[in-house]
Amino acid sequence: MRGVCKRYGGVEALRDVDLSIAPGEVHALVGENGAGKSTLMKVLSGVERPDAGTMEFAGREWKPAGPVQARRAGVAMIHQELALAPHLSIAENIALGVEPRKFRGLGPLAPLDRRLMHSTASRVLARLGHGGLDPTRRTGDLPAATRQLVEIGRAIASRATVMIMDEPTSSLGRHDADRLLEVVKRLRDEGLSIVYISHFLEEIRRVADRFTVLRDGKTVATAAIASSTDQSLIELMTGRSVGAVFPKRKRRIGDVALRVDGLKGRPMPIRASLEVRSGEIVGLAGLVGAGRTEFLRCIAGLAPIAAGAITIDGHRLASNASIRARLRRGLGFLSEDRKGEGLALRMSIAENLLLSNFQTVATQGVLSAARMKAAANQWIERLAIRSADPGRAAGTLSGGNQQKIAIARLLHQDSTVLLLDEPTRGIDIGSKVQVYELLDGLARAGRAVIVSSGHLPELLGLCDRIAVMHRGVLGPARDVAECTEASLMSEAVLGSDGEVAA
Ligand SMILES: Nc1ncnc2c1ncn2[C@@H]1O[C@H](COP(=O)(O)OP(=O)(O)OP(=O)(O)O)[C@@H](O)[C@H]1O
Ligand SMILES: [Mg+2]
Repeated sequence: MRGVCKRYGGVEALRDVDLSIAPGEVHALVGENGAGKSTLMKVLSGVERPDAGTMEFAGREWKPAGPVQARRAGVAMIHQELALAPHLSIAENIALGVEPRKFRGLGPLAPLDRRLMHSTASRVLARLGHGGLDPTRRTGDLPAATRQLVEIGRAIASRATVMIMDEPTSSLGRHDADRLLEVVKRLRDEGLSIVYISHFLEEIRRVADRFTVLRDGKTVATAAIASSTDQSLIELMTGRSVGAVFPKRKRRIGDVALRVDGLKGRPMPIRASLEVRSGEIVGLAGLVGAGRTEFLRCIAGLAPIAAGAITIDGHRLASNASIRARLRRGLGFLSEDRKGEGLALRMSIAENLLLSNFQTVATQGVLSAARMKAAANQWIERLAIRSADPGRAAGTLSGGNQQKIAIARLLHQDSTVLLLDEPTRGIDIGSKVQVYELLDGLARAGRAVIVSSGHLPELLGLCDRIAVMHRGVLGPARDVAECTEASLMSEAVLGSDGEVAA
């Protein structure tokens, strides 16, 4: 790709970008949220047309008419948000767009060759190291990691030689992420070229051969991964030198702000008790599916409970208290599902930011456009949200910047107890540091914070105490000084029963 430019209205997403990918390499594409990574890959895979620039693929001019044609010609993109048809089977999804037919002369009217479809699917899955998967299963019923594998299988079935993965591990647990990285290496060894977008540097170090850094829509560096350090990568991405990633702990811990007593979920078998004090950040660790999200949703009033008491600042919540009532008591919740629950994508950035607490920008109940814009701009600056204009629709922001809007909106509520489910998912490293600082600032201001994360180094760096969820049962919250990555991992896999028995 040479001199590629792409503009969306007033936003120059790509300005004169160069990128070259060799056969049989994993090429990491890194950069801050909104740097242009996804846009560049949409151009390569035919989803978007560039405004300027040239592309060449396998020695020929590359001008894909659309994603389907690009896929047929060998360039396939695995999207940030997966794009499978949930009602179809694994085999049908893998064949999507390239369905084998009997009597080929009849064209698209010919009947599907289901036998061939299934054998292709089985072969592809075996190649990915998942031969045991039944290709007749409905994809809608599969866990995220398996659905992703089906997408990759789909790319392979269409004989892709360039595969683009946009943050493929962002919603996977560690075990599934490890397996995916193995798949990536296997495909590379078979000669595929893989463009790998990720905000996890440790992952990039494990799989990538070379990297390209995008900043503000421009290429700032391309080099062998072995020649870089984490520090040098972060500096290339942010354009400045960075200090400590995690804020100094030593916060003043106050009174109990949130007490969860003998909570029992229904129908999810959650069992949990926990106390969080003001000034404290408590981490929730656990494997994907262990029930961390469900636990937080029970407290937030989004999931039903069968028993147990939730007390905020000494006031016991009625078990059927509405979400609104909980909000008034000072409870704030950030959902991990930012598309579904976090944001109104068609509404403006400003509206999304201020939605939860319009009083702060209204005078005697009347909204002031100027104050709204000023307040929105403050958040945009504090969280370094890349956007030309707070009046634009939230849906036009890059993935990570949408997540930041959801966080800013929660912070704008000014709650006393904050529950954050995977707050830094999809966020670039520079912004993660900002989010850590904000959470630290909230704790210092006397708020009580619970952070759920699948990323253990993050919990170890940020929290005062960490509790591990194992098959719906919450273990004791331990002082972070007693925790290591290994101890948390083993508790996540085995539970804390040994401890309780002793
Ligand atoms: N459909 C669109 N309309 C308007 N602006 C857009 C659109 N798509 C992307 N942009 C803008 O283009 C810029 C680059 O976005 P892009 O999604 O490529 O970033 P990214 O590097 O993938 O970020 P992230 O790490 O957050 O996923 C951003 O400023 C974004 O707001
Ligand atoms: Mg992106």
